Amino acid sequence: MDHHLTPLDVTQLASWHALTEHRAQMNRFSMREAFASDPQRFERFSLSSCGLMLDFSKNLINQDTTALLVKLAEEARLGDAIQAMFDGTAINASEQRQALHTALRRPLGDKVLVNGRNVMPDIHKVLQQMSTLVGKLHNGLWRGYTEKPISDVVNIGIGGSFLGPQLVSEALLPFAQKGLRCHYLANVDGSEFRELVSRLSAETTLFIVSSKSFSTLETLKNAQAARAWYLAQGGSEENLRRHFIAVTSNPAAATAFGISEENILPLWDWVGGRYSLWSAIGLPIAMSIGISNFKELLSGAYNMDLHFRNTPFERNIPVLLGLLGVWYGDFWGASSHAILPYDYYLRNITDHLQQLDMESNGKSVRQDGTPITAGSGPVIWGGVGCNGQHAYHQLLHQGSQLIPADFIVPVSSYNPVADHHQWLYANCLSQSQALMLGKSRSEAEAELRGKGLEEAEVQRLAPHKAVPGNRPSNTLVMERISPRRLGALIAMYEHKVYVQSVLWGINAFDQWGVELGKELGKGVYQGLTDWEPAPAADASTQGLINYFRGRHRG
Ligand code: F6P
Repeated sequence: MDHHLTPLDVTQLASWHALTEHRAQMNRFSMREAFASDPQRFERFSLSSCGLMLDFSKNLINQDTTALLVKLAEEARLGDAIQAMFDGTAINASEQRQALHTALRRPLGDKVLVNGRNVMPDIHKVLQQMSTLVGKLHNGLWRGYTEKPISDVVNIGIGGSFLGPQLVSEALLPFAQKGLRCHYLANVDGSEFRELVSRLSAETTLFIVSSKSFSTLETLKNAQAARAWYLAQGGSEENLRRHFIAVTSNPAAATAFGISEENILPLWDWVGGRYSLWSAIGLPIAMSIGISNFKELLSGAYNMDLHFRNTPFERNIPVLLGLLGVWYGDFWGASSHAILPYDYYLRNITDHLQQLDMESNGKSVRQDGTPITAGSGPVIWGGVGCNGQHAYHQLLHQGSQLIPADFIVPVSSYNPVADHHQWLYANCLSQSQALMLGKSRSEAEAELRGKGLEEAEVQRLAPHKAVPGNRPSNTLVMERISPRRLGALIAMYEHKVYVQSVLWGINAFDQWGVELGKELGKGVYQGLTDWEPAPAADASTQGLINYFRGRHRG
């Protein structure tokens, strides 16, 4: 079955019907009771691989649930779809492309064909180019126009040309090369631009213009502003080559911009933007942590790839995470999923996973263009803990929605301060525990009586203090973040998203939905700047344009 051509309708499978019946039986399922009746529940529902330990015991599941979910994956021919991705089948049907981000982290000796050509040598050639570049930078051999070494690297890029590199380089700060600072410039907002360059000097700054298409408005506008700034600061045209590099699959556009050919690193169209940090888009990562750590990152992802390809579904971490998302989305009505890293270094992971998941599975048609028949991607949100406990955990604990959560926490810290890490870790576990245990009305009443309150007060307050509980979460634990473990973690989520796309029949690798806004933006821009603008299509947009024009009267 070629999923990408004629996706199956998973809702017609026997295991889907069995899951529907099972769901009805699970209506009264209590995690509290499940833990009480099965002392081995933690052991039964936890897995380790690639330096990560997943505790998925705090879920609305029993062994029948996981067996039925695995059966669904098998009936949906997930194994074939996994094979197809790694083999280079054109699983991006609408663009008729392969999705070969996994090739970027495979050993040179492997063979991956694109149009009959083995691309592994090309991939490793670019890795070598990156290595040479990083070496020059770190050894001070790369000099600016006043012959000083580079102290600051600015990555100009947005979406997948920004979020992945930012996540990784800031997560791996403990591995960063001393004396070289890495910055990210993404939005077309003069404030972001000015606030950044005010901290830089052009003579020691290297700009990386990262854009697969080299046609993204925000990136081009920032690249032009950076070049103007560099010239205004005293840089010359002939020294541009010392201060501008490009990473793109559109070298002609980069050359036209003025970037010299030897400073252009290639990207391929069979790597999606949100899956591209493993490619030369990861150059700022390599510049920050060094090429050997970048290769460690790649091998961590490669290890997760092997786990994903070779492990039976019932012990396969990305498969189980993907299936749990289908369980909650399609059978429990969950429409969002919280990512809660209890680690300063992982504070940007939610931003990256938002693009990875929501730009991949935020779709309403299947691979063949027919409307979806099952679920589709959830809203991904969250943020670093404990901060979230003082912001949105109230809704997680007492809100009216079921919101599954992933807690991510390191066992140890790079920066021990008193007993901070013990408290950070304790808070992470207790939040997950509170979601599962809750506090019954009678427990709340007993607690209030225990404080000596009058019965009337007890009855008044108890409904507000009761916590529903029985709310699911996964906890991912690791020693502490490292290039290898981070590579495995990100690859794990890439594969989770893919698993869900296969079950839902969705193309995880195109993003047609972003085109409309870009097109309409051009008309609005004309309305703001032309003397005789064409009227906007609607009164709201026209009214807002008039408001702007009224305050910018020439
Ligand atoms: O959001 C649309 C998108 O194409 C993303 O998929 C991509 O990561 C981003 O814009 C940037 O694209 P480019 O790397 O081509 O500038």
